[in-house]
Amino acid sequence: MPETGPETGLDAEIARRLQAMQQSRGKQARVTSFTHDGRRLWLKCAESRLPLVQRLQKGDAARALRADIAGLRFMARHGLPAPALLSSGPGVLVIADAGAPLSVLFSGRAAPEDEQARALASAMRALAALHGAGGRHGRPKLRDICWDGAQARLIDFERFRAPARPRDMALDWLIFLHSLLEIERNATPLFRRAARVWLRDAPPPALDAARRYLPLLRFLRPALRLLARLRPGNKEIRALIALPGAVKTVLDGHAATGGG
Ligand SMILES: Nc1ncnc2c1ncn2[C@@H]1O[C@H](COP(=O)(O)OP(=O)(O)OP(=O)(O)O)[C@@H](O)[C@H]1O
Ligand SMILES: [Mg+2]
Repeated sequence: MPETGPETGLDAEIARRLQAMQQSRGKQARVTSFTHDGRRLWLKCAESRLPLVQRLQKGDAARALRADIAGLRFMARHGLPAPALLSSGPGVLVIADAGAPLSVLFSGRAAPEDEQARALASAMRALAALHGAGGRHGRPKLRDICWDGAQARLIDFERFRAPARPRDMALDWLIFLHSLLEIERNATPLFRRAARVWLRDAPPPALDAARRYLPLLRFLRPALRLLARLRPGNKEIRALIALPGAVKTVLDGHAATGGG
């Protein structure tokens, strides 16, 4: 049962939903949305009955959910953009809706480019602000940041940590850029503009750490090229190959404009 939940009737609603989930024997998704008092909310559970492969990929589900809750609380404490945590307890959390994941703005009926640019800039500001407060997200892919038309908010803090090291912060940025490169393919103007927002706002030691990742990323490229031949349509591998060149472009551009 939830431990916190100031909203009238919300805890009873959550208890009902948890029971339904248990009865579905793991067939129901561990993240679901529902409407309560006219508002769209999201419920996330630590599902321990996932298939073995997913359990191995996700690690300890209960610990991941505790990190998620800690991340959401950290964001709220520092006035940073993340959905409000409305209720939480062992193995469960409920948060406010934060709009569409950024991945949706780039797929299907994609959003106009100026909206994509605004959403990406807002996401980069949010990430840099989290880093400025001393935390790391852990895996800010496009699908882990939501956009409501005016503000980007980080979600899915399962790998959150604070205090974080500059290299963890740099890795957040690289993971985000990698996710964007899966769509953009190379350092397009949209990509460069977004990347530069983080360079402008993030703590300087995190920028130095990002530069120090470049040799490793370049070192991996020949092996990745071989892998790409075996898996020609794999977007993740293709984006990893493009990553060091794209990152160097934005880091050099930033240095040339006096950004250090
Ligand atoms: N507050 C929210 N507002 C809008 N959408 C949300 C919200 N919370 C979750 N979602 C949706 O649910 C999806 C899954 O949520 P979340 O990323 O927290 O779970 P997850 O199981 O850790 O996901 P994954 O491991 O696939 O990234 C999100 O990508 C998003 O589409
Ligand atoms: Mg996620």
